[in-house]
Amino acid sequence: MELEKFVDPLPIPEVLIPHERMGSKTYYEVTMKECYQKLHRDLPPTRLYGYNGSFPGPTFEVKKHELIAVKWLNKLPDRHFLPIDHTIHDNHHVDGVKTVVHLHGAKTPADSDGYPEAWFTKDFKETGPYFKSEISEYPNDQDATALWYHDHAMAITRLNIYAGLVGLYFIRDREEQSLNLPKKEYEIPLFIQDKSFREDGSLLYPRQPNNNTSVNLPDPSIIPSFCGDTILVNGKVWPYAEVEPRKYRFRILNGSNRRIYELYFDSGLIFQQIGSDGGLLNHPVKAQSLTIAPAERCDVIVDFSNIEGKTITLKNRLGCGAQEADSDRDAYIMQFRVLKPLKSKDMSTIPKVLRKRPYFDKQQVHTIRKLTLGANSDQYGRPVFLLNNKRWSDPVTEKPGLGKTEIWSIINTGRGIHPIHLHLVQFRILDSRPFDMDRFRENRELVFTGPATPPPPNERGLKDTVKVPPRSVTRIMANFSPYSGKYVWHCHILEHEDYDMMRPLDIIKTHHR
Ligand code: C2O
Ligand code: CU
Ligand code: CU
Repeated sequence: MELEKFVDPLPIPEVLIPHERMGSKTYYEVTMKECYQKLHRDLPPTRLYGYNGSFPGPTFEVKKHELIAVKWLNKLPDRHFLPIDHTIHDNHHVDGVKTVVHLHGAKTPADSDGYPEAWFTKDFKETGPYFKSEISEYPNDQDATALWYHDHAMAITRLNIYAGLVGLYFIRDREEQSLNLPKKEYEIPLFIQDKSFREDGSLLYPRQPNNNTSVNLPDPSIIPSFCGDTILVNGKVWPYAEVEPRKYRFRILNGSNRRIYELYFDSGLIFQQIGSDGGLLNHPVKAQSLTIAPAERCDVIVDFSNIEGKTITLKNRLGCGAQEADSDRDAYIMQFRVLKPLKSKDMSTIPKVLRKRPYFDKQQVHTIRKLTLGANSDQYGRPVFLLNNKRWSDPVTEKPGLGKTEIWSIINTGRGIHPIHLHLVQFRILDSRPFDMDRFRENRELVFTGPATPPPPNERGLKDTVKVPPRSVTRIMANFSPYSGKYVWHCHILEHEDYDMMRPLDIIKTHHR
C-alpha cells in the first residue's frame, strides 16, 4: 500500500512518572494493554499492544545507582492477534498472552531479568516454570546509556515486539552531565522499526513463509525472518521533524525484527558518534554512515547549523537480506527540516574526550569458548537456526563463573549475519577473522584465510550486541558479573531467537573469587 512520506511529525514518547518514591526505591507501575494508534495520516488506527497503551512505550529516565522497582501488569486480551506457531518449544495453548519484560543491556539480578520461561499471562493467572516475582528490580549500577525494555516471552518474542511491546530506558550519570552535550528538546530518541500494513491499517505478519509450497507446514508456521516494507520512527511511518540550525543529540535504536540499517544523510551531513550500547565512547567518531543491527544503539550528534532552510533526508542503504534498499520504500527513514528559528546560541559542545576511564580493569582470561552459529532443518523441512548446534531445551553448556572473564570465539558457519546478544554483560569486541568454511564443515578444522581485523572505531566501546558476519570468527571478551543465576544469550533476529537460536547462560557462584 502506498503511504505518502514525511506527512506526520516525529512524536517523542512520554517520560514515565514514578508511582511513588519509597525510601531508597523508586516505584513504577506499567500496564500492557491493547491499544489503537494512528501510525500514519492516511492509515486507520492500528491495533497494537503497548506498555501503558502506547507504542513505543513510555521512556524511563533514571540515575546511575538509583534502585527502581517496576510492577509490570498484563491486561492484554485473551487471544493474541498475531499468528502463534504452537509447534515450536511445546508452545502449548494458554488463555491470554504470555509476556515477560526484559531490560536489554542492563545489569539486572537474574530474578528480574525477564527469563523467557518466567512469563505470565493476564493478572498473573498463569505463569511459566521460572516465574519468580510480580515486581522487577533494576539497580542501575552501570554507566549512563540508552537501554530498551521489550517483551521476551518464550517462542512469541517476535510477535510481542512486533505488536508494540517496546520502550526506551535512559540511565544518566555525572560524567555524562558534565559534558555539555545537547540536552532537553535537543536530545531526541529515534526508535526505528519496520512494519507492514493491510489496507484497513492492521498489522501484517505472515502466517506462513511466503514461498510455502509444502502442504505439511503447520498453520500458523514460524517464518525464517521478517522484514516490514514500511519504516517507522517513534511509532510514525516515515515522519519528519522540524529542527533549529544547531547541534542535536540523537539516541538511535534499531527495534526491528530482523532488518539491519545503514543510515546516512542524503545531503552528506555526518554523524559524530559519541556512544554505543553500553555508554560513552572514549572519543567521538565521525561517520558518513552508521550500520545498526537489531537491538543495537548509537548515540550521535548531528550539527544542522549552516544549513538553515534546508530539508535533508535520513536514508537507508540496506534492503532486507542481501538485497539493496528499494528506492521507493525501505531506502527512507525520515526527514529533517531546518526551519525552526534558532532559539538561543548553541552552547553545547562535542568534547574531544568523552570518557576518561578504561572500559575494563585489567583482567585475567579464565575461559575461552568456541561457539558456532549455524542452521539445521526440522521435521517439516523448515530451517532451525542454532547456537553450537544445540536447542534451547538441551542441557546448559555456557556456565561462566561469577566474576570471571571469558573470551567467546563466535564462529559463523552460515550465509547471513547474526546480531548476537548476551544478557547481564557489556562486553568488548576483540576482532573478526575470515576462515575456510569447507575445511570447517569437513572436520571442524578452523583454518583462517586472512588476518584478524579489529572492530571499527565506533564499536570499540561497551557493547551488548555484536554483528557476527558470515564465514568469520568474531571474538568478544566479557566479565560475567555482578550477579549469578539464570540468564540467556541469543541472536537478536527475533525469528531466530524464537526458533531456536537462544541458549541458557548460567552464571555460577564459585568458591574462590
Ligand atoms: Cu533485547 Cu534477550 O534481548
Ligand atoms: Cu538483553
Ligand atoms: Cu540469527
